[in-house]
Amino acid sequence: MSVPQQVGLMRSLMASSGGAGSGHGWSALWQNNLTPWDLSGPTAALQDEFAKAVEDGRLPRKGARTFVPGCGSAYDVAALAKNEFQPLVVGLDIAPEAIEKARGTIADSPGASVVCGDFFTHPLQTFDFIFDYTFFCALPPELRGKW
Ligand SMILES: C[S@@+](CC[C@H](N)C(=O)[O-])C[C@H]1O[C@@H](n2cnc3c(N)ncnc32)[C@H](O)[C@@H]1O
Repeated sequence: MSVPQQVGLMRSLMASSGGAGSGHGWSALWQNNLTPWDLSGPTAALQDEFAKAVEDGRLPRKGARTFVPGCGSAYDVAALAKNEFQPLVVGLDIAPEAIEKARGTIADSPGASVVCGDFFTHPLQTFDFIFDYTFFCALPPELRGKW
């Protein structure tokens, strides 16, 4: 399937399942393997910038807790949990299909956990650091003010 065809299919599936503000819309994409954002591994920004930021003191060190909203397959959650200073990482995604995949990804990461829920309504603890990769930008513009 070409990229424009894939995008068209994603748009129509999303629209017919409640839109990008709805868990059903995202689930429909996950169920149909329409997840072109999925890099099959952590984002390069994490490898480049995160280690540097911890090293030079821009990020808190010992015992800091990290949150990854819209974590998808949780590659970033697992990668962040490998960091010796900030091993406690929680990922959240609205789609149960994403969380099922995410559980496999973090299976060998003791400090990592994932939760299924809506970022805007799920009760959350406080965190020291939030890592957002393609979650905010995937939200419908009318929801972004609530981020
Ligand atoms: C573009 S994907 C990015 C996934 C992941 N961050 C990555 O880079 O592979 C956006 C993710 O956000 C999730 N999502 C969308 N709206 C959400 C919400 N309100 N609460 C939690 N997760 C949400 C979707 O299910 C989807 O997995």
